[in-house]
Formats: sequence, C-alpha cells, structure tokens
Amino acid sequence: MSIAWRGALKRFGARVALDALELDVERGSVLALVGGSGSGKSTALKLVNRLLDADEGRVLVDGDDVRTIEPHALRRRVGYVFQRLGLFPHWTVAENIAATPVLLRWDPARIARRVDALLEQVELDPAAVRGRYPHELSGGQAQRVAVARALAAEPPVLLFDEPFGALDAITRGQLQERFVALHRALGFTGVFVTHDLGEALVVADRVAVLSGGKLLQVGQGRDLFERPADPYVASLVEAALSHAELLRWRLRAGGEAP
Ligand SMILES: Nc1ncnc2c1ncn2[C@@H]1O[C@H](COP(=O)(O)OP(=O)(O)O)[C@@H](O)[C@H]1O
Ligand SMILES: [Mg+2]
Repeated sequence: MSIAWRGALKRFGARVALDALELDVERGSVLALVGGSGSGKSTALKLVNRLLDADEGRVLVDGDDVRTIEPHALRRRVGYVFQRLGLFPHWTVAENIAATPVLLRWDPARIARRVDALLEQVELDPAAVRGRYPHELSGGQAQRVAVARALAAEPPVLLFDEPFGALDAITRGQLQERFVALHRALGFTGVFVTHDLGEALVVADRVAVLSGGKLLQVGQGRDLFERPADPYVASLVEAALSHAELLRWRLRAGGEAP
C-alpha cells in the first residue's frame, strides 16, 4: 500500500508543526524522515495512523483519505513502533505482541503460534522471553519486542518513530540489519523516522529531510550527497561524512585523538 501526504498541515496553537507536507511513499518501499528535534517528524507519522489529524490537507493510505477509513481497518493496515518504546509494562512479552491479534479476535492457538514465530523473526528465543515483563529485557531485546508487536497482524504499512534511537551502536547496527532483512522478506511499505542520516541511508530507499516542519528535499542518498537542495541538507551530509572520516583517521592513528 502507498502513503501520500497531500498538503498536510498541523498546528499546535500558533505553531505550525508540519507545513503543508507533500510527500509520497511508494508501495513496498521504505522512506526515512530525517531532521533535528522538533522538525515535525513524529507529527508527520502520527497523521498516518490518526494519533493526530491534519488541520489542512489530507493523508492517503492506498489512495484512501485516512479519515474515511474505519478505525479497525486502519489498525489492520498500519503498524506503529513508538519513539519511546510503548510496551505495556504490566503485560508479558507475549501479551504485548498479541495486543492487536487479540483486538482482532484471533483464535488463541493461532495467537500463540504467531507470537513464537514473530519472536523468532526478530531473533529472540521464544521459550526464554515470552513470559518476561518489559523491565526484564535489555534495551535491544525490548526494541525487538516492539518491532514484533508492530508486525503481529502483518500490516502492509509500518511506521517506525526513532525505534533504535536509545540503543548502543552495536545493538543499533544489528537491529538496522534485521530491519533490512525483515523488509526484504515481508515487503511492507515503511516510514522510518530518525535524526541520523547514516541510519536513514542504511534502512531506507529514499530520504526526506524536514526542518521547522518544512520538507527541504527528498531523494535517494546519492541525490542528497551530490545535489543538496539546501544548506541544512548539505550540512547533514557533511556531518555524516566527516564523522566517517574522523573514525578512519582515528583508526589509522591507533586510537589517538586528532
Ligand atoms: N502535542 C503537542 N502539543 C504542542 N506542541 C507539540 C505537540 N507535539 C509536537 N509539538 C510541537 O510540534 C513541533 C514538531 O514536533 P514533532 O513532530 O514531535 O518533532 P520531531 O518528532 O521531529 O522531534 C515541535 O515544535 C513540538 O514542540
Ligand atoms: Mg519525534
């Protein structure tokens, strides 16, 4: 299913959080939304699953205005991984993952099978973790559970709001790799919010850069690199490259600071 923002504008009081966004995500592709804190990334996502409604313009999923889609149907179409995890703390891992299937009144045996299959897909041992509570998981394990929960009812559209933002670099790299593998296997249409251009280039087919609620540029990584449309985009690319360069320098210099 495709996603389209058509002049989508959202205000909070006098502040315009998202300024008439025009953007498309092709069916089966992943778009990364990149920008600094407060640039409107989460707002753009929330308009898709109606955690927020646009003040002007429209958001379309598979060509339908999300406001005309019946809430249960929207829930089936769109999965969501929250910025701050959002696992229910008093529910076990299995209960968290089963949340949407239970709402959709799946048969309990089918739910149990699905929970175990999902845990395997995110590379967790079902027997070891299905009965645990969120506080009994590492950060990386909890994020894997959050991804499994979003995948539970196989929604064709998946939204990820800085899902790996709070993790250490190694865990983050592993989860980025798993994300790419899952996308290849499942073929969902995805929107992945991150403030990290490097992460965006790993997980997404195209990257959209937001600043102050405005879309500055959308394109493939190479487009942003070769033809930045705005000084902010150029500085993002520059920062990502100079970090890689600094790393190379330090490794050559045997770990000494420059
Ligand atoms: N519920 C809210 N009430 C008031 N202002 C909000 C609310 N949510 C977001 N904003 C404001 O809208 C702007 C965009 O926020 P957000 O989309 O969360 O940015 P990002 O996810 O890029 O950090 C920010 O200025 C933020 O303070
Ligand atoms: Mg946000």
